[in-house]
Amino acid sequence: MGLRRLGRSDLEIAPLVFGANVFGWTVDQAAAFRLLDRFIDSGLNAIDTADVYSRWAPGNKGGESETMIGSWLKGSPSRRAQVVLITKVGAAPGEDGKGLSRKSIAAGVEASLRRLQTDRIDLYLSHKPDTGTPIEETLSAYEALIRAGKVRAIGASNSTVEGLRQALGTAAAKTLPRYEVEQPEYNLVERKRFESGLRDLCLQAGMGVIVYYSLASGFLSGKYRSKADLGKSARGAAVEKYLNPRGMRILSALDQVAAARGATPAEAALAWLIAREGVTAPIASATTLEQVDSLARAARLRLSEDELRVLTEASEGF
Ligand SMILES: NC(=O)c1ccc[n+]([C@@H]2O[C@H](COP(=O)([O-])OP(=O)(O)OC[C@H]3O[C@@H](n4cnc5c(N)ncnc54)[C@H](OP(=O)(O)O)[C@@H]3O)[C@@H](O)[C@H]2O)c1
Repeated sequence: MGLRRLGRSDLEIAPLVFGANVFGWTVDQAAAFRLLDRFIDSGLNAIDTADVYSRWAPGNKGGESETMIGSWLKGSPSRRAQVVLITKVGAAPGEDGKGLSRKSIAAGVEASLRRLQTDRIDLYLSHKPDTGTPIEETLSAYEALIRAGKVRAIGASNSTVEGLRQALGTAAAKTLPRYEVEQPEYNLVERKRFESGLRDLCLQAGMGVIVYYSLASGFLSGKYRSKADLGKSARGAAVEKYLNPRGMRILSALDQVAAARGATPAEAALAWLIAREGVTAPIASATTLEQVDSLARAARLRLSEDELRVLTEASEGF
């Protein structure tokens, strides 16, 4: 599978990233191992997690997803070299109440490395902006980790255009490492945030972009078409907001494009993202082996210009 470089880093990923926020939530450890094996065996290589996954599940405190990935890596040492491991810090306040302070990052990386049972994180992301910490402090904390060989490259998630511009400017002015990747929410139903300036900035800066909620929490699979469908999975409530005329128009365009290619709507929605200007790869989580196989097919599906236009036009009006 053709690999894509992440910004100016030396990391290269296949154009579909596994989202591991389901581990410890809707996926237990045995199933997680099977899903990861299948994902890597199908030629894909990047896994996205975070220190806080999946603390929202009853009985969890965060760290369960990294712990499962660590056990999987430990069980098959040759895997580590095949995987581009992405994790995040800073969604929860650190010990000093600041998510991206030097202290919080220094403690966060050790805890993540321990849970992941590895000596390095390939791509370490600021999970969300921390306006209480100067960006120079955050970037110099990352610089220390890169020098120590604990982190290969850094990135950010959920940035504002202004915040990202400031981070890139500070990195250049102070000769600190820069964010090589941005991770925004982006999919056929949620286009506004990425397409209003963030994409242009990432393109200008030559950054990698890995987008999340690529399937709009499963809505773009087409399995939720009415309120009666919302009980089909633990995520039903998250997609209710898309049950409107625009959402239905998008699903009908996906049905049309998918049927013509012998694909599923989810695969067509992911292929649209993979072809989208400025996007390096979408992230999607999967809860079954069939879904992993489907993600691998999506990574290989190349839609024609006409097919892409049908989907882009159906999702206008955002
Ligand atoms: N940076 C951030 O702030 C941030 C925030 C959120 C998420 N993320 C990342 O993005 C990842 C993905 O987010 P997400 O899982 O919430 O949303 P998503 O990728 O939009 O939705 C994934 C869900 O869709 C269903 N699905 C997956 N593949 C399918 C297929 N081929 N056919 C039909 N249904 C399919 C599964 O749900 P069911 O089987 O339950 O129906 C799956 O859990 C997370 O794991 C995380 O790594 C990052």
